Amino acid sequence: MNDEQERIMTVEETKEDETLEENIRPDLLKEYIGQSDAKENIRVFIEAAKLRDESLDHVLLYGPPGLGKTTLSYIIANEMGTNIKTASGPSIEKQGDLAAILSNLEPGDVLFIDEIHRMPRNIEEILYPAMEDFTLDLVVGTEGNSRSIKISLPPFTLVGATTRAGDLSSPLRDRFGIICKLQYYTEDELEQIVQRTSRVLNMPIDKDASYELAKRSRGTPRIANRIFKRVRDFALVDGCDTIDINVTKKALERLKIDEFGLDETDHQILLAIIKKFNGGPVGIESIASSIGEEVTTIEDVYEPYLLQNGYIKRTSRGRMVTNKAYECLKIEYQNTIFE
Ligand SMILES: Nc1ncnc2c1ncn2[C@@H]1O[C@H](COP(=O)(O)OP(=O)(O)OP(=O)(O)O)[C@@H](O)[C@H]1O
Ligand SMILES: [Mg+2]
Repeated sequence: MNDEQERIMTVEETKEDETLEENIRPDLLKEYIGQSDAKENIRVFIEAAKLRDESLDHVLLYGPPGLGKTTLSYIIANEMGTNIKTASGPSIEKQGDLAAILSNLEPGDVLFIDEIHRMPRNIEEILYPAMEDFTLDLVVGTEGNSRSIKISLPPFTLVGATTRAGDLSSPLRDRFGIICKLQYYTEDELEQIVQRTSRVLNMPIDKDASYELAKRSRGTPRIANRIFKRVRDFALVDGCDTIDINVTKKALERLKIDEFGLDETDHQILLAIIKKFNGGPVGIESIASSIGEEVTTIEDVYEPYLLQNGYIKRTSRGRMVTNKAYECLKIEYQNTIFE
């Protein structure tokens, strides 16, 4: 994969995303497209918390990268009319880091902790009394001469985001009153997102072009927005003031995104299972090492989409490709010795 393609299909945030991000990211629930279950529940809980004049209960958002967890966290703070303070699991290295963050909170603040599953267990324990009773229990002093102190905290809302809810300890998970799983977006929802981005960035897009783009975005708004920006570049260089289907198709082809929206890594995964492992079943570690990818990246980013859309299936003995994968790769189906 060359740099350009890698940058397009990666679902992690890049520098460019950050600059345009502020404009593209919706600020209010009514602008947040799709995720109707999560959105409607959150709307009710926010309204109830406001009526009671209390802080919103703690919220856990989970789901694959790029589906809108960070966006939703900012929206929650906006809708509650409070400030948001942000931290990320891996950046909290010692108990003192977390204690400092917590003791700086103002009443009603949203504390957003991204990648919350990556917070070390001994640090996470500080969160239990903080979430439950708004108190900070700290042990101060040195060994032999230590004492515990309790500091009360203002009421706040912890919003945790994770791509791996399964990696969260159950004491932590149980302390979230509101748990929302974000789903992949439908083509229709992605099309609305593309059209919104087109309005925000002031670059018109034809209906059939936005449909094509939505279809090829792997159910993920971040990918839809990123492809939009690249297609916009192609349109600009070609001297078009509207994005039409031709420039869209040309750009998608150049970006090596296939008609199903699968990228090169998806292809590599499916091809590895078919060609190297006879269609499967094969363990995720073997797939990862055969294509030089991290196991966690395959598990968090690629596999959920391939599973949900029926390109692979999971069995007790490992992953297997389906007929659909053969069709999409235009490879003739061969019965594996395991079937
Ligand atoms: N429901 C939505 N409506 C409109 N745009 C959205 C929606 N959800 C996400 N986006 C857009 O998609 C992009 C990625 O969203 P976001 O950064 O919130 O994803 P994330 O789930 O936090 O990803 P990660 O797991 O990598 O942190 C943003 O540009 C945002 O503007
Ligand atoms: Mg995020």
